[in-house]
Amino acid sequence: MNKWLLQPSAKPFVFTLCLLPFIWLLYRALADQLGANPQEALIRATGDWALRFLCIVLTVTPLRVLSKTPSLARFRRMLGLFMYFYALVHFLSYSGFDMGFDVNDIVSDIAKRPFILVGALSLLLLTPLAATSFNATIKALGAKRWQLLHKLIYAVAGLAVLHFFWMRAGKNNFAEVAVYAVILGTLLGWRLRQFVRSRAKS
Ligand code: HEM
Repeated sequence: MNKWLLQPSAKPFVFTLCLLPFIWLLYRALADQLGANPQEALIRATGDWALRFLCIVLTVTPLRVLSKTPSLARFRRMLGLFMYFYALVHFLSYSGFDMGFDVNDIVSDIAKRPFILVGALSLLLLTPLAATSFNATIKALGAKRWQLLHKLIYAVAGLAVLHFFWMRAGKNNFAEVAVYAVILGTLLGWRLRQFVRSRAKS
């Protein structure tokens, strides 16, 4: 496994895999296969993919440690940027389809609807993470400050689940929200345990 992940073709392969949901959505949109309300379907599907990628990114470190596969770390940045990509497409779909790209309407909707405010906050917190995921910015920030900044991902995870929960609260439909909350809670719990253990050792 470790050997395969180090192959030059592994990164383009994972990149293509990550792009497939977007290509599939684009195809279905162009082929008019998104159902009775294609705009809503696009907004929801891109929101779902942003949340799925968040779970995938947070799985990389536990998987790397537990399976003793250090080369998995090579894919973390790409997966994180794909998460940001899907969150951005989600926001742009909402801005375009629901708000007609009217900045005043978007701002007043953010102020009016708490679940939109929470989604906007999580996207806002994601932006410095995406912007500082390149070698030059990591170098400029210094490893310690970069690591500290990237702890924001825990706040992003909490806000993303709250955003989803609040959206579904109106429909009293919490099954999927509970699945994501358990996955993210387990992943964050694992990190917390590692942190406590490393503190106890030092
Ligand atoms: C400015 C930022 C954001 C805005 C304006 C926004 C807006 C929306 C809107 C309008 C919906 C659909 C509501 C409906 O159909 O009733 C939605 C759903 C959703 N959003 Fe966001 N969102 C934002 C950020 C995020 C982020 C960062 C994530 C994930 C990391 C996310 C994940 C989701 C999920 C999972 C859904 C539910 C999809 C479903 O029902 O299957 N959103 N969002």
